[in-house]
Amino acid sequence: MNQIVEPCESIINTTPEFPMGWFSVAKSRDLQVGEVTRVFAFDRELALYRTRNGVAVIQDAFCPHLGAHLGVNGKVVGESLQCPFHGWRFDAKGDCVEIPYCDAIPDRAKLRIWDSVEKNGEIYMWFHPQNTAPQFELPDFPELEDPNWTSPRYHEIKIPASMQDIAENTCDPVHFRYVHRQPDTPPSEVTVDEDGRTLHLRADVDVGGGVISKLHSKVFQMGLAFVRNVYGPNAEMVVYNSAQPIDRETTLLRWTLTVRREIEDLAGDNVMTGIIEGIQQDMPIWENKVHKRKPIFCREDQDLVLFRKWARQFYLPEAGGTGS
Ligand code: FES
Ligand SMILES: [Fe+2]
Repeated sequence: MNQIVEPCESIINTTPEFPMGWFSVAKSRDLQVGEVTRVFAFDRELALYRTRNGVAVIQDAFCPHLGAHLGVNGKVVGESLQCPFHGWRFDAKGDCVEIPYCDAIPDRAKLRIWDSVEKNGEIYMWFHPQNTAPQFELPDFPELEDPNWTSPRYHEIKIPASMQDIAENTCDPVHFRYVHRQPDTPPSEVTVDEDGRTLHLRADVDVGGGVISKLHSKVFQMGLAFVRNVYGPNAEMVVYNSAQPIDRETTLLRWTLTVRREIEDLAGDNVMTGIIEGIQQDMPIWENKVHKRKPIFCREDQDLVLFRKWARQFYLPEAGGTGS
């Protein structure tokens, strides 16, 4: 009998499609009024600028005229962006509003503008594989405005993994023992809200010195998670991470950390360093793994099973999901 040899899985042929949701493209403080920058996300070139009225606009990069990159030396003029090549100007809806040397503007002189929201110190764009309007809102991060909390610390790190594989780590208690060299698998519980939207992980983590931290991680979508650690009364820390998918296999993660002032001297830079070190431990796995589209799970893998079920809503049926 002839057996068929299946092709080997590779990072390229297994990595999930881009999921729908809100994705970070910049920190607010990195885009001043009148500034223009290029952004690479979703395997495409984008141009991001801030109008004179302070509105952040994210659009496709290439000018419909002769293809110049508007994010490279493009110029903010009032509420519009001027192309560096022949001076055509495009407004925040993507329409060409001026050709300096011609008074007839072609109907098709338009650029794609991406829905965006500025919140929690970041600029987000909405991505949907079929270009539909935003289906849900971004969560609030009230601690950022609260005087009882320190001003935020930031860190950005490029990870050679898809957003789904990064998020899946949250629901994978066993890997802490092998990858992060923790003595035991921390007891944890994964649940999903009644409406199916938000995934929660709760765990009691031994942070040393007899201190147990109550960890509560909320995952809102692929690439958007909020982690609260409570060590005791007024001893709290929150870490927010948001993702900019660069391509399907590479993700830029932006971290924001703030802690209650009461524990400022105990937790802060060292916590951020701990997070960065933890991610470094995950790197060799992420860099070399494939995304198992149909993993073989064992009985104790129920958190991962729940995660995979939850994750499907962010993908269209043709990408193996249940979203629309
Ligand atoms: S390429 Fe943009 S104005 Fe000509
Ligand atoms: Fe990890």
